Amino acid sequence: MKNMLEIKNLTTFYKTRMNEEVCSVDNVSFTLEEGKSIGIAGESGCGKSTLAMSVMGYYFPPLYYRSGTIIIDGNEITNLDPDKIRTSVLGTEIAYIPQAAMNALNPTRKIIKFIEDIFQAHGIAKTKQEVREFVEERFNILNLPPKVLDQYAVELSGGMKQRAVIAISTILSPKVLIADEPSSALDVSSQKIVIKLLKDLMAKGIVKSMLFITHELPLLYNVTDDIMVMYAGEIVERGSAKEMVFDPIMPYSKGLMNSIIVPEEGTRGHVLQAIPGAPPNLKKKPVGCRFHERCKYADETCAKESVGERSAVLAGKDFPGRTYRCRHNMDELYAMYEADLPNLLDGK
Ligand SMILES: Nc1ncnc2c1ncn2[C@@H]1O[C@H](COP(=O)(O)OP(=O)(O)OP(=O)(O)O)[C@@H](O)[C@H]1O
Ligand SMILES: [Mg+2]
Repeated sequence: MKNMLEIKNLTTFYKTRMNEEVCSVDNVSFTLEEGKSIGIAGESGCGKSTLAMSVMGYYFPPLYYRSGTIIIDGNEITNLDPDKIRTSVLGTEIAYIPQAAMNALNPTRKIIKFIEDIFQAHGIAKTKQEVREFVEERFNILNLPPKVLDQYAVELSGGMKQRAVIAISTILSPKVLIADEPSSALDVSSQKIVIKLLKDLMAKGIVKSMLFITHELPLLYNVTDDIMVMYAGEIVERGSAKEMVFDPIMPYSKGLMNSIIVPEEGTRGHVLQAIPGAPPNLKKKPVGCRFHERCKYADETCAKESVGERSAVLAGKDFPGRTYRCRHNMDELYAMYEADLPNLLDGK
């Protein structure tokens, strides 16, 4: 399978007004294949949106690039000139739907105008009529009512506005789509429609691969092939969506999964746990495991020794593609979880 996006050891940081550095994406690597989608989960402030912005290779203050490589469909874009990225990468190679994008649509412009602007900015020679025909066909393929094209953003419902934003962002059929919390601000039925649209874009080959960012894990289970959990700027666990939701390995992922309800059979009576505390301040490089201060399974060594990603092995069995960050091996972790089960059922 062809790689649409390859990120190798990417590190980026914010520079604050006090000239401090906040390292929000720290040595992140992953590969997104053609036809595949990866979900990125993690609580607020763990670096999901910063990762989304960083993989586009388009930096402006206060966000800066430090090191690493970004390759889209075999072409490295890491050190391209920002103007070149804007004109020949964004929109066509990689498209980004920012968090809360639908609220940023200029309310006094018709939807078709935003699309005409995109064609113009990319120097695509089409008359207004040709653009309209192309866009109407695209709207038809995606089951979006073409009348939306002649409406102002302010006239659309939240769900329809978000669908319009998604259609506008993907109009040039990007190889990679990054959707940052695309459905978080919507009611449940609008959420479903937006997710269906994203799935349709993939199924119809309009978008070749997708990164879907959310803190709502049940959504990822139904939408993406794989999930990566992010914590304090690092990827701390990865695996298939099913493995990640139903069998998380390290304590943070487990806490994250246990703080939500997956609407599946057998989850009634499931005890919800919140993760105590807050993520560490990234102005200083955390020492030891980044989660140790909040982890009930941490010991003194966890506070001192940092941990890299390791492959999942349980009772001698390998789980290809599955990695996690924790000093404890899986057999130890699972024994600790099992010993803890009576406490959890009592709600402790
Ligand atoms: N402009 C900025 N200057 C300094 N630090 C920033 C800036 N923007 C974000 N950060 C810090 O970077 C870290 C990651 O933020 P980011 O927005 O990527 O998190 P997130 O996972 O997307 O959170 P959310 O779920 O709330 O959207 C946070 O600790 C945040 O405080
Ligand atoms: Mg965010």
